[in-house]
Amino acid sequence: MDGQENKIKWNERIKIKDLKDKTGQIHSLTGWVFFTRKSGNIRFIGLRDGSGKIQGVLVKEEVDQATYDLFTRLKQETCIQMSGIVQESKRNRFGVEILVKEIEIISISENFPITPKEHGTDFLLSNRHLWLRSSRQLALFNIRNKVIQGMRDFFAQHDFVQMDSPILTQNVGEDPKGLFNLSYFDLGEAYLAQTGQLYLEASIFAHGNVFCFGPTFRAEKSKTRRHLTEFWMLEAEMAFMDNVDNMDVQEDLIRFVITKVLDECSWHLKELERDVEALKGCMEPFIRLSYDEAVVILQNKGAKINWGDDLGATDETLLTGDSLVPVFVYDYPKKAKAFYMKENPLNPKTVKCADLLAPEGYGEIIGGSQREDSEEKLVSRILEVGLPIEPYQWYVDLRRYGSVKHSGFGIGLERLVGWICGIHHIRETIPFPRMMERVYP
Ligand code: 4AD
Ligand code: MG
Repeated sequence: MDGQENKIKWNERIKIKDLKDKTGQIHSLTGWVFFTRKSGNIRFIGLRDGSGKIQGVLVKEEVDQATYDLFTRLKQETCIQMSGIVQESKRNRFGVEILVKEIEIISISENFPITPKEHGTDFLLSNRHLWLRSSRQLALFNIRNKVIQGMRDFFAQHDFVQMDSPILTQNVGEDPKGLFNLSYFDLGEAYLAQTGQLYLEASIFAHGNVFCFGPTFRAEKSKTRRHLTEFWMLEAEMAFMDNVDNMDVQEDLIRFVITKVLDECSWHLKELERDVEALKGCMEPFIRLSYDEAVVILQNKGAKINWGDDLGATDETLLTGDSLVPVFVYDYPKKAKAFYMKENPLNPKTVKCADLLAPEGYGEIIGGSQREDSEEKLVSRILEVGLPIEPYQWYVDLRRYGSVKHSGFGIGLERLVGWICGIHHIRETIPFPRMMERVYP
């Protein structure tokens, strides 16, 4: 078959991570050179293959001259195949290195722009397509991946059904000021979705508990370390649950994800120099403060906040800065929140909602609420905030056919990963960040 008889099946190729119990065996690895170093007649080659990193040791007496001479052509990011004997080493996380016998250059790399020296953030962001290969970035995206897996595992264990929500919509989900709009054939204007929530709400009547996970868009003109114009949100929606159940689900989910990351990503957390003790704070019961209590605490700490104001980033930092335990703030003023939140029967000036603030001053990572389930109240809220009723007719309909108490929440993935990894600006936690001043590469 076209000379492909000896081809190794795709899932049987040896990766660096597979070598830990293979000392004494001969293996071939393919990957990219990330460092080279000389010491006397010994040459060291750092190789990376996505599953991990390993050091190849090239000893003059062990190879022919041509192989030894290839070393000078191994520049940063050269793609090679390196074969040799697996031997023990304390230098990598798998406890092995390769005593090199053969090297084949698959393709060269000259003058890779990102070197181990310091570079400015703007330069790195403009070279994001190459920056992704750096050690810190590798660690970060392995953790991001684990967080996503953890969230999916949690929902699978609890029988939530994934219901994908549309990206193109005629509904303002959250903030009419932050819409990306486009013209949609003969049907007028459509927007890039700010949230999948309204569609999830329709889905609970079919499945009970549901979630969606996808990119969401906010044309936000804020240049802060917490804002992207495109970010990934995991949203859940649950029938028969009130806002306290809602907080319980979020707390269990966050603890589940953190436990998984601590168990399975310790090496990556170390690479990021993350203080893991700080993350263990979320094994404690989360703090739950009413908005009223939060305002008093903030005022006592000198914040210029009045009852009725939304919490700003500095307020959130003030509330959580010296805590390792996440904090829920619940029952915000109605005027500070979105139209779909349920009016609080005990105080109609507030709504049954909660934001989860990450500890160490990272701020809001989840926004959630119980939803308005009365048709009459919902319609009056839509009109009150100045939205047109027609695009929401289907949403109002849901309150007509078996309306039920229900709640849900949305987690900003990049904010969650930023906190877990201890990253100051969330632009580093998404492969290709989109911000007001950046859509390249
Ligand atoms: O608080 P938000 O706006 O809530 C919603 O969108 C609800 N519809 C979710 C729901 O109940 N289903 O956004 C939820 C989370 C925030 O807590 C934050 O973590 C993140 O999304 N987020 C952003 N992340 C990055 N950049 C932005 N511009 C963000 N805006 C919100
Ligand atoms: Mg919010």
